[in-house]
Amino acid sequence: MIRVVSDLAELRAQVGQWKRDGLRVGFVPTMGNLHAGHFSLIDIARRNADRVVASVFVNPTQFGPNEDFARYPRTPDADAHGLDAAGCDLLWLPSVDTMYPHGAQASVQVRVPGITEILEGAHRPGHFDGVATVVTRLFNQVQPDIAVFGRKDYQQYKTLDRLVRDLNLPVELIGMPTVRESDGLALSSRNRYLDPERRLRALAIAKGLRAAHDAFVAGERAPSRLSGLVRSSVAAEFDRIDYIEAVDPETLEPLGEASDQQLILVAAHLGPTRLIDNLWLGHDVRP
Ligand code: PAJ
Repeated sequence: MIRVVSDLAELRAQVGQWKRDGLRVGFVPTMGNLHAGHFSLIDIARRNADRVVASVFVNPTQFGPNEDFARYPRTPDADAHGLDAAGCDLLWLPSVDTMYPHGAQASVQVRVPGITEILEGAHRPGHFDGVATVVTRLFNQVQPDIAVFGRKDYQQYKTLDRLVRDLNLPVELIGMPTVRESDGLALSSRNRYLDPERRLRALAIAKGLRAAHDAFVAGERAPSRLSGLVRSSVAAEFDRIDYIEAVDPETLEPLGEASDQQLILVAAHLGPTRLIDNLWLGHDVRP
C-alpha cells in the first residue's frame, strides 16, 4: 500500500532509510488531478529507480492573480488510489505552511533567467519563478536521485533542466513524451474545464500539429510555413492565441532558417480555458 506523508521529518526518515539500504529514489512532482500522462511518469520512475515518491501540491506561487488557482481541480482520494495502483511507494502531500514557512511572499525564491522570460513566461509573468521555487523546495525535501517530467510542459522541463545544472543539484532529470487521448488531445487536468462543444474545438491544436508533422515528413523545413499550418488550424476554432512558434528545441529561440529539428509550441484560449501543447518535429511521433 502507498504511504501518504504530510510531515517533513517522516518523509526524511523514510527516504533516508531507503538510501541507507542502497535504494535509488525516483520522484514525480505533480499538482494532482492525476491522469494517464502523470501515470506514465510514475511508470518511467519505477523503471529507473527502486522506490518512487510522487508529490501532490497545488502551488499557489506559480498561478497569476487572474488564473485558476482557486478552481484548480483537487481530487485527493482518486489521486492516492491511482498512485497506489501505478506502483508509487510514497505520496508526499505538503501543506502550504510546510512548503512556505515564511508565507509565499517572504520565502526565498528561485529564478532562472532568460529561458523563463519568453513564450509561456512572457504570457504568465512570475509563473516559472513559482515553478523553479517549488521544485527546488521539493527536491530538497525529497532528495531524489532521479525526477521525471512531461515534455507536454516543454518550457518548464527545459527551465528545470537549466536550474538543476546551474545549481549543481544532485538529481538526474528525465523528460517524457506527451500522452494524448485517442483523438490527439494532450491529456491535461485543465481539459476538465471544457464543455463538449469546446472539447471538440480543442482538437484543432492536435490537427494543426499533425498537419505540420505531415508537411515536415514530406520535406517542408520552413519554420514559418510549419507554424503557419498550426496557426490556421487553431485560429479557426480558438478564441485567442497567445503564441504559436517554431523554435530551436534547445534554446527555445525562434527559428528563422530551415532546420531539421523544430519544436512547435502552442498556447491558446477556448473561453475560460487555456491550453498548451507542442510537437518536436524530427523527434516526436505523429500526434
Ligand atoms: P502538473 O501540471 O500536475 O504536471 C505534473 C507533471 O506531469 C509535469 O511534469 C507535466 O509535464 C506532466 N504531464 C502533464 N500532462 C502530461 C501529458 N499529457 N503527458 C505527459 N506528461 C504530462 O507541471 C506541474 O504539475 C507543476 O508545474 C509542477 C512541476 C508539479 C510544479 O508545481
